[in-house]
Amino acid sequence: MNLSQYIKNPEEIIHMRRAGQAAASVLDYITPFVQKGVSTNELNQRCHQYITETLKAIPAPLNYRGFPKSICTSVNHVVCHGIPDDKVLKDGDILNIDVTVILDGYHGDTSRMFLIGNVKPHAKRLCDIARECLYVGIDMVKPGQSLYDIGVAIEQYAKKNHYSSVKDFCGHGIGKVFHEPGFQVLHYDAPEQKALILEPGLTFTIEPMINIGKCDIKILKDGWTVITKDKTLSAQWEHTLLVTESGVEILTQK
Ligand code: MF3
Ligand code: CO
Ligand code: CO
Repeated sequence: MNLSQYIKNPEEIIHMRRAGQAAASVLDYITPFVQKGVSTNELNQRCHQYITETLKAIPAPLNYRGFPKSICTSVNHVVCHGIPDDKVLKDGDILNIDVTVILDGYHGDTSRMFLIGNVKPHAKRLCDIARECLYVGIDMVKPGQSLYDIGVAIEQYAKKNHYSSVKDFCGHGIGKVFHEPGFQVLHYDAPEQKALILEPGLTFTIEPMINIGKCDIKILKDGWTVITKDKTLSAQWEHTLLVTESGVEILTQK
């Protein structure tokens, strides 16, 4: 199995860079509004308006396989794919906002954690380590690198910090297609990834979901919301990346 079929040409890479920067700009835009007392629906509406009117882009999650909103908002023990609703954020919550935009047909996908008011040290530490897990992966990206070693390193970093790395969801090849089939980026020791070797021109996400407790998850009856089975806190960060001749370019930043 090789990843050559997913390589983007220079013209496509220019589009991916623009889409990535646009996605990052949504998170920058929404940051001052992320406060206690605000509902995740309000954050969704603001992001939707910014994406469609300011960026003239499309919010990829909206109607994606029936997802009902324009962003994902995952609070506390929600691992990912939380659906914005009228519940308001409260002091001490941790929140992931995951934004994917389609600009000129290309996807940019990124997420960050937000701390609401006074967050307990153990929850802040989780958010910090989850970000470090993402960067452990990013720092390894270069031509010739196997995806297997990246998954192992991310999981080891989580375990070293007494956390677990979720196995049921993964990063993905991305381009004109949101989740490129056959190009998965697993954030754990997954021997099936050994044959997947990075090449210049590949674009994909790394998006580890890190739990304080066990890695097991369950999906709520809404068909989307993923929570930790043991109800412990979970945190996630995501960037869209480009493999360059010499290493990596983070597409979802300025
Ligand atoms: N943005 C998510 C990812 O990182 C996918 C969300 S799919 C949705 O891949 F339908 F829930 F929006
Ligand atoms: Co993604
Ligand atoms: Co995402």
